[in-house]
Amino acid sequence: MIDKRSGEVSNLEVPDSDATTGIGHTRWSTHGPPTDINAHPHTDCTGEIAVVHNGIIENYDVLKSKLSSHTFESDTDTEVIPHLLEAELKSDTSLREAVQAVVAQLEGSYAICVSVKSRDEIVVARDGSPLVVGYGDGENFVGSDVTAFLEHTQTVTYLEDGDVARVDDGDIEVWNGNQKVERDVERVEWEAEAAEKGGYEHFMRKEIHEQPTALRQTLSGRIDISAATADLDLEFEEAFLESIEEIQFVACGTSYYAALYAAELLERFGDVRTSVTIASEYRFGGGRDPYCTLTVAVTQSGETADTLRAIRRAEAAGARTMAVTNTLGSTVTREVDETLFIRAGPEIGVAATKTFASQVTTLALFSVFLGRARGGISAAKARDVLEDLQRVPGAIQQALDREREVIDAAEKYEDSRSFFFVGRSLGVPVALEGALKLKEISYAHAEGFAAGELKHGPLALVTPETPVLGVLTEGANPAETMNNVTEAQTRGADALGCVSSDTRFRTLDVSFSVPDVGVAEPLVANVYLQLFAYHVANLQDRPIDKPRNLAKSVTVEWLVISWNSRVTKPETHMRTQHKHAF
Ligand code: G6P
Repeated sequence: MIDKRSGEVSNLEVPDSDATTGIGHTRWSTHGPPTDINAHPHTDCTGEIAVVHNGIIENYDVLKSKLSSHTFESDTDTEVIPHLLEAELKSDTSLREAVQAVVAQLEGSYAICVSVKSRDEIVVARDGSPLVVGYGDGENFVGSDVTAFLEHTQTVTYLEDGDVARVDDGDIEVWNGNQKVERDVERVEWEAEAAEKGGYEHFMRKEIHEQPTALRQTLSGRIDISAATADLDLEFEEAFLESIEEIQFVACGTSYYAALYAAELLERFGDVRTSVTIASEYRFGGGRDPYCTLTVAVTQSGETADTLRAIRRAEAAGARTMAVTNTLGSTVTREVDETLFIRAGPEIGVAATKTFASQVTTLALFSVFLGRARGGISAAKARDVLEDLQRVPGAIQQALDREREVIDAAEKYEDSRSFFFVGRSLGVPVALEGALKLKEISYAHAEGFAAGELKHGPLALVTPETPVLGVLTEGANPAETMNNVTEAQTRGADALGCVSSDTRFRTLDVSFSVPDVGVAEPLVANVYLQLFAYHVANLQDRPIDKPRNLAKSVTVEWLVISWNSRVTKPETHMRTQHKHAF
């Protein structure tokens, strides 16, 4: 039985069934508009072979032209896969062999999942898109992300590029080429409840409120006050750490802003030159001694295609590499020399919140670690910074306790025409992130920029209908930023500011108080901006956890799809999983 619909997953009505296998998928429209016909799964001419696919088949046109006797129904690239399978699947071929024969013909990137009517197995394959299998009790699971089936099992295997796996209710067999291979079985330490809403209306608000806990995990066991350093379990040799001439960050979206924040800290404490490049724009800077370059990929998912591509470029040019990620077993962790886990726990809301805080905090620890290794920071200063970091979870809790003030501000300004976010120094990435959060979930026009740039253009757009939000804390040059905020106020704009608790800017229309945590104050200010974005969007009744046109994990260079599947014992009630539907 196949049921597929455009729009929300809730549009589907999957009836009770005694089927033992099932596959499901949410599609992002690349080839063809979001219609019922273009929705997954796609089938062959007989309707017996069903396929879901995350990725892009770049040579689908060529493949389709070789299938001239086949009738295609959709506009998708994916549909060639079931038709190719129809040609390969003979009575004496196993489904696994047929899938291997088909994927050998595909160019592009894919994680696919194949189900054939009346067979109690599914076969999956990956090349370039994430794929994880989960081991249940008499039932097994496959997904593009472990959170899809975390409520059923924490025991998983992350498949690798080129892998084809046969999944039924027993052992899971994996092949790579003609070889049967053994892949590590790992236990994911995330609890199932962490991937559920737990009484909150939206994952995003839950994840904003989880930040104190997430940061305690991020910091746990990593601060060594007596040695005045951070213990990060990195294996870079001392000689290398001392010789680094430049740290290059590559990242996308919110992770890019976390990298901007981190780069500033590394310049201050790590005694090292930094550059931060949007991963899709990254080209390795030729001419430098690559041994002296450390390229750091900041990526929550560890699967962002642009970031993976950038890190591969750096590696090919001879740079040492490091990943800063939330995701055990993700592709990036297999490709870099060293990994720093941010330990934020699962993040389900498309808009990144707690992972930004954990990325910045992890990299703040790294800046102290590097500064101590290179002599860029004194023991006393390092202790100050580490003690500030220890106080951040409590400081964020204090900000969260004042959520009512943010709701009042959201109610006052929700209908504004545009929002401007400004900051200086460590306030710049937070201003950029504040604007991104607001635009992605509320759809309001919002721009963030360095406060000094206001007068070089954006001021032309400032009117009484365009509130300005300033990051006015320590670490963000508050007095100078306030001058720029005042420039906007004199043009009629209302001004909102996140202000250090020991400072007063009396002319602000709305102030949010940030406890004293030194260079982490802009990070706490960011929590107010997250709440502001959330409440504006909530008042507008937006689909906050799944904003239109956006995806949590962009696993190819211009689209995302994710899906998950399940194989159960025959007697177990079957239900197709659509939970991780982004
Ligand atoms: C997508 C998400 C963003 C995220 C970005 C980078 O665009 O919607 O929230 O910041 O990807 O993701 P990454 O997993 O690499 O941090």
